Amino acid sequence: MLIDFEKITPHQRYKLLTAAVVPRPIALVSTLTPDGAVNAAPFSFFNVFSEDPALAILGLQHAPDGSIKHTTRHILDNGEFVINLVDRQLAEAMAVCAARFPADVSEIEAAGLSVSSSRHIKTPRITEAPVALECRTWEIRQITPTRHLAIGEIVALSARDGLVDPETLYFDMQAYEPVGRLVANTYCHTDDRFELTVPTWPDGFTDTSQTQTNTSTHTSPTGKT
Ligand SMILES: Cc1cc2nc3c(=O)[nH]c(=O)nc-3n(C[C@H](O)[C@H](O)[C@H](O)COP(=O)(O)O)c2cc1C
Repeated sequence: MLIDFEKITPHQRYKLLTAAVVPRPIALVSTLTPDGAVNAAPFSFFNVFSEDPALAILGLQHAPDGSIKHTTRHILDNGEFVINLVDRQLAEAMAVCAARFPADVSEIEAAGLSVSSSRHIKTPRITEAPVALECRTWEIRQITPTRHLAIGEIVALSARDGLVDPETLYFDMQAYEPVGRLVANTYCHTDDRFELTVPTWPDGFTDTSQTQTNTSTHTSPTGKT
């Protein structure tokens, strides 16, 4: 089956892409409102793309009524935002933050969350998040009448105590339990883990049955992706 994207509607493309490209990580983005309150909303058109510079990208669609979402407005106004990663403990609160609240209602309070100061930017991070990435806006661009793309430069990472070894900077992957977004309201845990080793040519190609082992406990020592 071949589906030609030029012959289907944007909604049909959305259905296909958000089912095919899974699981997607979830950025629970905190931003500052003009009166200094903290706004939070989840975005799964999100990922990190590089480490030098360290960049993260968000796909910010306009609201169904055509208005710019609060997160987009605040990023345009403030030039900064925090990406709070979502784990098992934070998942339900993340869903609460997606509700379309009026501008003067704080998602943080409604979801029973709290905030902590960031190191380099004014926008606070969500205290309960396992990991938070402080971002200064590298670029934000309106790419269609109903969508912005925001690129953030990550200037600091905060991790829950015990998650990252301060000496080696290895994550304890047994303690880290991020959730992913599958299609629509379906999510997944990430505790079914296995390791694959990239074979070297030509020696590693003599016995391919040796390339899979179980569960890793920390990130790759080489840091290679
Ligand atoms: C898991 C999840 C992922 C989402 N991803 C996106 C996304 O990538 N882009 C987007 O525009 N909205 C996304 N949304 C919807 C926004 O979170 C929602 O519109 C929210 O009310 C925006 O809040 P704001 O107006 O405070 O920015 C997502 C919602 C959920 C639950």
